[in-house]
Amino acid sequence: MKRLENKVAIITGAAQGIGFYAARTFAEHGARVVLADFDVEKGEESVKALREDGYECTFFKVDVSDRTSVDALVKETVDTYGTVDILINNAGITRDAMLKKMSVEQFQQVLDVNLTGVFHCTQAVLPVMVGQGKGKIISTSSVSGVYGNVGQTNYAAAKAGIVGMTKTWAKELGRKGINVNAVVPGFTETSMVESVPDHVIDQLKGQIPLARLGNPQDIANAYLFLASDEASYVNGHALHVDGGIVM
Ligand code: CAA
Ligand code: NAI
Repeated sequence: MKRLENKVAIITGAAQGIGFYAARTFAEHGARVVLADFDVEKGEESVKALREDGYECTFFKVDVSDRTSVDALVKETVDTYGTVDILINNAGITRDAMLKKMSVEQFQQVLDVNLTGVFHCTQAVLPVMVGQGKGKIISTSSVSGVYGNVGQTNYAAAKAGIVGMTKTWAKELGRKGINVNAVVPGFTETSMVESVPDHVIDQLKGQIPLARLGNPQDIANAYLFLASDEASYVNGHALHVDGGIVM
């Protein structure tokens, strides 16, 4: 059964990692997918791979921290596919450092992409979703934002902020037919965790009841559920997909 037949989805940060798995999963379920990313080379390669498999998708370059760029993304999507049914706010970066060494630039850069970027994209799709009286907005938080994580003052602040914005928007937009939810991934095997020292990874695995890191498909499956009609009464939820690292 295809669960997103004819839906139009924008997935930010879809050139690689979790976002790319989500793009493939959404396309397999009948969605027309806009892969929106800062990385043009990887984004175009990813779209090529999906098109070769017969899927309907397009790459648009975006810097989610830049409002003009985000507005252009939404306009290009509407010009191409007529609407936006689903927004996945998945783009994110890390600039890890212990508090005493973290520069203001490192702090601000992560806030600009991971928090302000989610604000820009959500505000930009709003007129389209309100106009059609329906929509699904899903943003990617992190266990770091909910429980904290050594070396991630900036990232934890942004990811915690996403949960707060999600709950606020769920209250503001529910009556407009828009569901707003977050996914809270645990440590997931993508390039993002490659910078984590081996001894930290080993320590982490020992804390995860399922005794493994997540894989990108685990997170894509959660996006799919929240974007589908099966989740039509789920609103303001932060869905943890973390192997049970903290309960
Ligand atoms: N728990 C407990 N202590 C830790 C720790 C951890 N996870 N990580 C580091 N420390 C300790 C070190 O053992 C060290 O202790 P001592 O001073 O007693 O020796 C101290 O903190 C300083 O650590 P470093 O020597 O590594 O300091 P550094 O300045 O060279 O590097 C760092 C600091 C950049 C934060 C580095 O430790 C690091 O990369 N840590 C991992 C950060 C991390 O987990 N990032 C997650 C990335 S994945 C992601 O973000 C996805 C997601 O949503 C979860
Ligand atoms: P990744 O690094 O593999 O992919 C992130 C993508 O975002 C890249 O393609 C990158 O080019 C893009 N991007 C970065 N800045 C951008 C910007 N300003 N505008 C547009 N695109 C931009 O990372 P991964 O692991 O796939 O992460 C996806 C999301 O999941 C992120 O929000 C991340 O914080 C979150 N997450 C990841 C976890 C993990 O362990 N991998 C755990 C919890 C959350």
